[in-house]
Amino acid sequence: MKIFTKIRDIKAELGQVRAQKKSIGFVPTMGALHQGHISLVERARKENGIVVTSIFVNPTQFNNPEDLKKYPRTWEKDLEMLKSAPNDIVFSPEVEEMYPAHEPEEHFDFKGLDMVMEGKFRPGHFQGVARVVAKLFRIVEPDRVYFGEKDYQQLLIIRKISEQLFPDITIVACPTVREKDGLAMSSRNALLDPTTRSEALIIFQALLKARELKNKMTVPELKKMVEDKINSSSTLRVEYFEIADENNLQPLAEINQNARAFIAVQAGKVRLIDNLSLNF
Ligand code: PAJ
Repeated sequence: MKIFTKIRDIKAELGQVRAQKKSIGFVPTMGALHQGHISLVERARKENGIVVTSIFVNPTQFNNPEDLKKYPRTWEKDLEMLKSAPNDIVFSPEVEEMYPAHEPEEHFDFKGLDMVMEGKFRPGHFQGVARVVAKLFRIVEPDRVYFGEKDYQQLLIIRKISEQLFPDITIVACPTVREKDGLAMSSRNALLDPTTRSEALIIFQALLKARELKNKMTVPELKKMVEDKINSSSTLRVEYFEIADENNLQPLAEINQNARAFIAVQAGKVRLIDNLSLNF
């Protein structure tokens, strides 16, 4: 497995890969890898000649400086996991390499997809995500890029900018990988204290309950049920729970075949998100 930290070096390497007519599968990450990330690498492995994974904790997408400071960093373990995935190339630049001083800031039009949920509660977050993803796409020039449904709104936003800016790149959506008790895997789970971690399984249980009762309750009743269930725990507080159309993220007054439930929860000091299609 080759590791690159400089843009010019990885570009030179990938130039040779392309000359050999190998397709490039790309998995962008912020490290602190878990089985969710590895599932993307494995999928990319099956569908491409070579797999590139990036590890870069992107400062521009953190609206909360404290969150950036405490974001888990597990470099050695990440490399071990990638080696056995198996992954071919790691790109792990320094902040100065990705964001040279005085570079003009690129702005993106998400056609309203950023006005709700994560976009509403984390101002500037998706501009930061798109900024780094667009840079990475221009460096790696992949054929296919792999994103998790765990961050569903991010996935739609990347699809939207790819249609506009990168029509030759295929965006591949991959299912959410969960812990045994149902909690969606996340790098931030490592920051949960034991009590909060044991209560956090209620988040997925509440989403499953919403799916089970979707034809028996109205949308406001479902919302109240989920919020009450989670807020009755000692450590979890719902930030938002929405039932929205999974194609445009607009809130739904009634359940239809495109309905997806989205949730953000403050779990002690850690913020967790999850989502589940209600079409089952
Ligand atoms: P990160 O949170 O490290 O996630 C990297 C990729 O792994 C994303 O596509 C995310 O949706 C996926 N992922 C995370 N947890 C998952 C799970 N439990 N199951 C399946 N996939 C999962 O998302 C980011 O980094 C950043 O915003 C990034 C796109 C790298 C831009 O900085």
